[in-house]
Amino acid sequence: MAQSLHLLFLSLIFFVNLICFSSQQDLSFVYNGFNQGQANLHLDGTARIQFQDGLLQLTNATTQQMGHAFFNRPFDFGSASSQSLSFSTHFVCALVPKSRVDGGHGIAFVLSSSMDLTQANPSQYLGLFNISTNGSPSSHLLAIELDTVKNAEFNDIDKNHVGIGENSLQSVDSASASYYSDKEGKNISLRLLSGDPIQVWIDYENTLLNVTLAPLSNQKPSRPLLSRSINLTAIFPDRKTFVGFSAATGSLVSYQYILGWSFSRSRVTLQGIDISKLPTVPRPTKRKISYLLIVLLVILALIVMAAVLGGYYLYRRKIYAEVKEPWEKEYRTFRYSYKSLYKATRGFNKKGLLGKGFFGEVYKGTLPWVGDIAVKILLNDATQGMKQLAEVVKIGSLQHKNLVPLLGYCRRKGELLLVSKYMEGGSIDQYLFNSDKPPLSWSQRLAILKDIASALCYLHTGASQVVLLRDIKASNVMLDENLQGFLGDIRMAIFDDHGGTFTSVVGTIGYMAFELTSTGASTRTDVYAFGAFILEVTCGRRQFDPEMPIEKRHLVKWVCECWRKGSLVDAIDTRLRGNFIPEEVDMVLKLGLLCTSIDPEIRPSMGIVVQYINRKQTLPDFSLDTPGIEA
Ligand SMILES: *[C@@H]1O[C@H](CO)[C@@H](O)[C@H](O)[C@H]1NC(C)=O
Ligand SMILES: *[C@@H]1O[C@H](CO)[C@@H](O)[C@H](O)[C@H]1NC(C)=O
Ligand SMILES: *[C@@H]1O[C@H](CO)[C@@H](O)[C@H](O)[C@H]1NC(C)=O
Ligand SMILES: *[C@@H]1O[C@H](CO)[C@@H](O)[C@H](O)[C@H]1NC(C)=O
Ligand SMILES: *[C@@H]1O[C@H](CO)[C@@H](O)[C@H](O)[C@H]1NC(C)=O
Repeated sequence: MAQSLHLLFLSLIFFVNLICFSSQQDLSFVYNGFNQGQANLHLDGTARIQFQDGLLQLTNATTQQMGHAFFNRPFDFGSASSQSLSFSTHFVCALVPKSRVDGGHGIAFVLSSSMDLTQANPSQYLGLFNISTNGSPSSHLLAIELDTVKNAEFNDIDKNHVGIGENSLQSVDSASASYYSDKEGKNISLRLLSGDPIQVWIDYENTLLNVTLAPLSNQKPSRPLLSRSINLTAIFPDRKTFVGFSAATGSLVSYQYILGWSFSRSRVTLQGIDISKLPTVPRPTKRKISYLLIVLLVILALIVMAAVLGGYYLYRRKIYAEVKEPWEKEYRTFRYSYKSLYKATRGFNKKGLLGKGFFGEVYKGTLPWVGDIAVKILLNDATQGMKQLAEVVKIGSLQHKNLVPLLGYCRRKGELLLVSKYMEGGSIDQYLFNSDKPPLSWSQRLAILKDIASALCYLHTGASQVVLLRDIKASNVMLDENLQGFLGDIRMAIFDDHGGTFTSVVGTIGYMAFELTSTGASTRTDVYAFGAFILEVTCGRRQFDPEMPIEKRHLVKWVCECWRKGSLVDAIDTRLRGNFIPEEVDMVLKLGLLCTSIDPEIRPSMGIVVQYINRKQTLPDFSLDTPGIEA
């Protein structure tokens, strides 16, 4: 009972909404949504009414489909003269592509002598024609197409246009979808496949067919998009036609809907569509999935980013890793972070490599506030030695104007990094033995010898501990920009509380005293090395030079030989070209011989050496016959 009452009520609404005059001449109706039922509608193909929301769905998103919806009674032109023939229609449609990809193929408003278009083709034929009926006057069909695919075979202008077709898909007139905005006084383009509802008005009067488009929120624009003269009686000689819609999908698909439709014989009698009563257009469910996909992708991207950042963090931690032990706490202020040294040397770039030796490598770098630095990397794991070195750094006890200032250190696994001031002039061996640097004058050489003697004397006696350099040699003597001499490499220095001997043998051939292997390093072995250095600086050649004639090969022997011949100054560097003070050269060479005596007892201490070299004391009387002098 309730059921039938309900039905009665529905049909009442139906008749109120759908004012359908019994006279065929005055066919006139309005659908504000289609949930009143499908009475009076002829549907085929994929066309169906979605009762729950009142949409007339012409196609869903299945490929190669078509759907038709016709008002099931024909529109009769009547027998009046063609002058007075007119009709007017207004509909709202929506073309919803599948998740933002291109869709197809479009919707057409159709006037057709037959409601049966089931023999037509989908896709570009829009469910209107097949290959044999397209272009045939016997089709008796007029279509106003909203076409969303560009078909070259029908000369389509683009994939978003409106066209008028007379018995053919080849449009007699077409234009890109747009509407005239009265407010702005210009055409505004409209995307048919936006999924948003679009209003279409088709007015026919005085043989002129006008097509007007607008978005749902707009009033009917004052200017039509298309205005074309059409002879309807020529297409429909029977003066009768069915009116309705056709839509199709091809390989491109979209959901195509009609939301509301009004039709009347004239503009005056056309009833307005109540926009507020129109159903809403469902967005494809695919989109929800794509939102989910986006969320998933974002999460994935975040995970990847986190992994990359984490990896980068671990990588940084690994490359910047340091070794710190509790006892180092007190040397904090002398400690440099590995990161800062890494950056100062541009990641220990090979371009900044200053030197390479058995113990490690030296790089040039620049630290903010400090300036140019030299970073020495020692591959050494002797914790004990490092601790002592750090001690020196802390106490700052090794502060002498002729010691390369040690600025600090850093420790890593198996590496000790020493940071010292960068010496502009490089090491003295480049001036003495290489021809690429200008030769030093005699006074410069003597000044450097005094500098180094003073530094060495300080290490042996001035500091709170005895420091044995053990590796005094030309390549460890650095020059600053003023050619002042600095003792550079204290990397192998051994610290000991005044006295004691050391068993490990470290040094450089030519600078190593003979007793070093048997009794170990002492201040006297340092003096020996300094003596060798004196001879090298004065004579401008290495201790041992295999390219020299036999009698000159060993520097000490050669100097002795010159002395024996009564002309000690013959041993001097020829590049000085005689510009020197013979008495000074004589004293210096003899001092060199004294220091390189094979008898450690004959070698003077560094304190005395400083006295001699500064001429505060005269050299002791000795000759080539003094035991230990000539080896
Ligand atoms: C589309 O409509 C056709 C015919 O009504 C139906 O067979 C098909 O399952 C529908 N496809 C979808 C995706 O709804
Ligand atoms: C085209 O459609 C007409 C009817 O509309 C039908 O008679 C004819 O067989 C169809 N031709 C093809 C090739 O499908
Ligand atoms: C069609 O548009 C033209 C202007 O382009 C207008 O003069 C004419 O009245 C319109 N006809 C109808 C039926 O709307
Ligand atoms: C607007 O579009 C119509 C139809 O395509 C065209 O005739 C007209 O010139 C255009 N007007 C402007 C201002 O672009
Ligand atoms: C329209 O076509 C009919 C039939 O072909 C013809 O009799 C009539 O003269 C045409 N009208 C105009 C205005 O061209």
